[in-house]
Amino acid sequence: MRFFDIVLGAVAVGSAIAAPAGDAQTVSAKSKKASKFQYVGINESGAEFGNKDLPGQLGKHYTWPVHSTIDTMVSKGFNTFRIPFMMERLIPTKMTGTVNATYLQGLEDIVSYVTSKGAFAVVDPHNFGRYYDKVITDVDGFKAWWTTTAKIFASNSKVIFDTNNEYHDMDQNLVFKLNQAAIDGIRAAGATTQTIFVEGNSYSGAWTWTSSGNGASLLNLKDPSDKIIYEMHQYLDSDGSGTSTACVSGNIGQERLQAATAWLKANGKKAVLGETAGGSNAQCIKALTGMLSYMQTNSDVWTGWLWWGGGPWWGDYIYGMEPPSSTAYNGVLPSLQPYI
Ligand SMILES: *[C@@H]1O[C@H](CO)[C@@H](O)[C@H](O)[C@H]1NC(C)=O
Ligand SMILES: *[C@@H]1O[C@H](CO)[C@@H](O)[C@H](O)[C@H]1NC(C)=O
Repeated sequence: MRFFDIVLGAVAVGSAIAAPAGDAQTVSAKSKKASKFQYVGINESGAEFGNKDLPGQLGKHYTWPVHSTIDTMVSKGFNTFRIPFMMERLIPTKMTGTVNATYLQGLEDIVSYVTSKGAFAVVDPHNFGRYYDKVITDVDGFKAWWTTTAKIFASNSKVIFDTNNEYHDMDQNLVFKLNQAAIDGIRAAGATTQTIFVEGNSYSGAWTWTSSGNGASLLNLKDPSDKIIYEMHQYLDSDGSGTSTACVSGNIGQERLQAATAWLKANGKKAVLGETAGGSNAQCIKALTGMLSYMQTNSDVWTGWLWWGGGPWWGDYIYGMEPPSSTAYNGVLPSLQPYI
């Protein structure tokens, strides 16, 4: 999801409802999924909201995902929660700088809560390949940012590192170099056993994975631990931006994954659909379930999927996946149960 949506999210702040504090139930995530997917999850937004207000204030510009939502979603079978946050809020002065203890505390709290439930926490700097709105060209600085960040989570085997959300409009070789620097920085921090999700240019779209040049370029990434998963995003509206309740057709999901699936198979690689969504209507539900069935058929290369988006501040957002009353939680989730 793009800046536009995040800014919209920030606008919704005025209608924010205080998060329930309690942890309703004792639940823990199952690692072995009947659906065949290794990862089934939700993006839990909040800490990346208000991304034009840096550092921003907790409760005004941004918030953290809610513990009780994690419990609810774990009880529904989800085992992966992607936690978007801002690079600048964690390490504010420069990428080679030190962490902000206040923001770090929030990040550590949600990551440790998720992983204490046996679920995976995807640490997702939601920065689109930018730092303070400028394309990151300091590859060594980016590596340093990742070394600092990965050190914090190096001993938590349930953490997954996501190099950056949705690089776009960048030189392809720079996207390659930033991903490689992130991998090297994470491994240099002593985080040698965790999976790393790498993302591509063009908003990491699955439908453009090969045509954009991501395939040819990112095929050459090297991980000494050999634990890279290619994170692709796919929305099912006409421009693939994830801004409409309409889906192009009932088959659009599987159609948009075909070229990427062929690329994965030809090259012996694995992917995760790190963001997907569709409107709460029959055509989108057909497109989504068709896509997920196709992914199950190809579960040798597709490791799972994550819905966009959960989090307490979405209000009546078209893809809202927050219990108890948001749009997709009530209108779409019941149809997705076979794929969890
Ligand atoms: C650290 O983070 C807190 C909470 O986001 C913020 O209020 C504070 O201004 C930050 N400090 C710096 C130096 O960025
Ligand atoms: C999570 O939300 C962010 C923005 O708020 C979006 O960019 C991203 O695509 C979402 N991911 C998923 C899996 O929905």
